[in-house]
Amino acid sequence: GKRMHELIKPLSWLLGKWRGEVGKGKYPTITDFNYVEELEFIHVGQPNIQFSAYSWHPETNKPMHREVGFIRRKPDCDQIAFIIAQNLGICEIEEGTFTESEIKVESRSLGRLTFGSDPATKKVTRHFKRDGDTLEQILYMETVNTPMTEHLRITYKKV
Ligand code: HEM
Repeated sequence: GKRMHELIKPLSWLLGKWRGEVGKGKYPTITDFNYVEELEFIHVGQPNIQFSAYSWHPETNKPMHREVGFIRRKPDCDQIAFIIAQNLGICEIEEGTFTESEIKVESRSLGRLTFGSDPATKKVTRHFKRDGDTLEQILYMETVNTPMTEHLRITYKKV
């Protein structure tokens, strides 16, 4: 592989492929659901991490939510940013902080299609936590109808 950029080294705990089984989705306005998701975080020697998150239905294998993007960090501090494009037509910049095992980010700008479906998402927060060979992600969101509430919770194993 490519030589790892100095700025990426403190985030090397995130790199690689992660498989999440039976993620739990919920929201006050919808029926609870299960999902499977695969995450991949790669670097090509640049000061950024490229990532993808592909989810599918556990029984039918039908593709569900998909997102791709990049992670950047501000040099010499613990600030981190996610730049994310989602298949359902949302595009987000999320910013926050990281440690040697956790990332906490919240959306700072959220782009939406003029013909996007309702309800519009107003804010998203994500919490990643690595513990040994597992990675957990918890996602909260706010829509025009519902205050900040948990939408997703999933634990991944390193593939
Ligand atoms: C529903 C946003 C990630 C699966 C929704 C709704 C919104 C939303 C706004 C409608 C809520 C309502 O009607 O009040 C988002 C955002 C995500 C995200 C912003 C990421 C940042 C995911 C992921 C999955 C997923 C990863 C996994 C498969 C679903 C499902 C529904 C739903 C199954 C219910 C659809 C329905 O009943 O019509 N999501 N979502 N979402 N989301 Fe997500």
